[in-house]
Amino acid sequence: MRRTTAGLAGALAVALVASGCALGSGASVSAVTEQEFANELAIPPLAESRVVDGVRTFTLTAQEGTTSFAPATPEGVETRTWGFDGSHLGPTLRAERGERVAVEVTNGLDEPTSVHWHGMHLPAAMDGGPHQEVAPGETWRPTWEIDQPAATLWYHPHPHGATEEHVYRGLAGLFLLDDDASRAADLPQTYGVDDVPVIVQDKAFDDAGQLRLDDSGREPGTLGGTVTANGTVGAFHEVTTERVRLRLLNGSTARTYQLGFEDRDMQLVATDGGLLDQPLTLEQVRLAPGERAEVVVTLQPGDTTRLHSFEADLGDVVVPFAMGGNDAFDVLELRAADELAPSPEPAWEPSVHAPDDALHEADATVTRTFELDDRRINGRRMDMERIDEVVTVGSTEVWEVRSIAPMPHSFHVHDVQFRVLSVDGDAPPPELAGPKDTVYLEPNRTYRLLMRFEDYTDPHVPYMFHCHMLRHEDEGMMGQLVVVEPGDEDAVGRVEHAGHAGH
Ligand code: C2O
Ligand code: CU
Ligand code: CU
Repeated sequence: MRRTTAGLAGALAVALVASGCALGSGASVSAVTEQEFANELAIPPLAESRVVDGVRTFTLTAQEGTTSFAPATPEGVETRTWGFDGSHLGPTLRAERGERVAVEVTNGLDEPTSVHWHGMHLPAAMDGGPHQEVAPGETWRPTWEIDQPAATLWYHPHPHGATEEHVYRGLAGLFLLDDDASRAADLPQTYGVDDVPVIVQDKAFDDAGQLRLDDSGREPGTLGGTVTANGTVGAFHEVTTERVRLRLLNGSTARTYQLGFEDRDMQLVATDGGLLDQPLTLEQVRLAPGERAEVVVTLQPGDTTRLHSFEADLGDVVVPFAMGGNDAFDVLELRAADELAPSPEPAWEPSVHAPDDALHEADATVTRTFELDDRRINGRRMDMERIDEVVTVGSTEVWEVRSIAPMPHSFHVHDVQFRVLSVDGDAPPPELAGPKDTVYLEPNRTYRLLMRFEDYTDPHVPYMFHCHMLRHEDEGMMGQLVVVEPGDEDAVGRVEHAGHAGH
């Protein structure tokens, strides 16, 4: 281990200082404020699109605005926020497998940003990472074909060194994909009614009610004392059906949630990259920054229950309470009507594309290892000009990823959905059984991830892999990979910045 004892002690000290006197007052006291659940859950609108020459075309404009977070902030206070096509968060984009899409992304901010399609399989030049920055006033026009199973994906900025701030101020939205299997599934499907997006984020406010980005040096980044769902503080949703599907996204920059209900189980139906083979009954699902889960909850007429975040099991981390591990709080209240329309028992047929999408460990020809420590991956900080990994197109690979210090990390790979083969040699827990693009790394455990880089070669434009705790990413815990044709490995080296290209 490269980290010195002094380094570790330093991190511990920082964590202790940052947590104030929580030790003395009892480490199990939650640092998240309980709210009254009196605000109707905001539902992000479905984005409008037009089909131009067979291309489903969306527009998104990143802009400044103000938002009320009452009662977390004083009545009448408007908090300065950023949003897409509005003051906070963004509309839900939705497209079908096989469709070609385009997005006209306009930057209405005073500084460069970018928009990354998290979980999407697409060419690197369309990925919206730090090499595709959009200058203020400019418009960027990525286009690609949707070629992956139905899933709950999301989009957010990825400007080098400033991703935490841009997401925290409010730039994030969902990108839902549908396919034949998902449309035919016995699952709640009415958007905003029984198929409900739930973007979970925490915020910290200063005395004036403005967003405060914690710069105390606290290890995980900003842990806010106010938890929001789709930007709503103390949110409730009126349920009119026997079952409701919640599309959960951890859109926080640092906090890991352990979501469930105190009085009932739920059925996990999908992870980051799409539907599981079959529904799985479980009590809680842990979601690190960037991860998603779709769960189906059953209600009785007149029921009221709350989506709760339990004390998160962060694994072997130093001072868990300073990482938010002792925080427990409600996130969203579900209020069932006195009469509920029937909902089917969750069930679905595998997608017709499933044989092509399946990953087989026997196909793996390359194994790579990644050690996360401090703000480095394999001892290196992110360098925009350095390609860290060269992947030959078509190959199936095993990535062995391990956090070697007792700090939480959330590991994300662009372009692919992977399967978690094992965690320290054991079968992964149920919530990691489906397609994934982001995974929480319990410290000092090895996660073996199986992935395939199918197509879209480009020796000059890299995809990213990084920690999705966004301060860690911004401070260097990120690397770059290119996908090349066999024999093209020598063409790698010069990184092209497609950004600032404007029109
Ligand atoms: Cu959610 Cu590299 O991103
Ligand atoms: Cu991503
Ligand atoms: Cu990290």
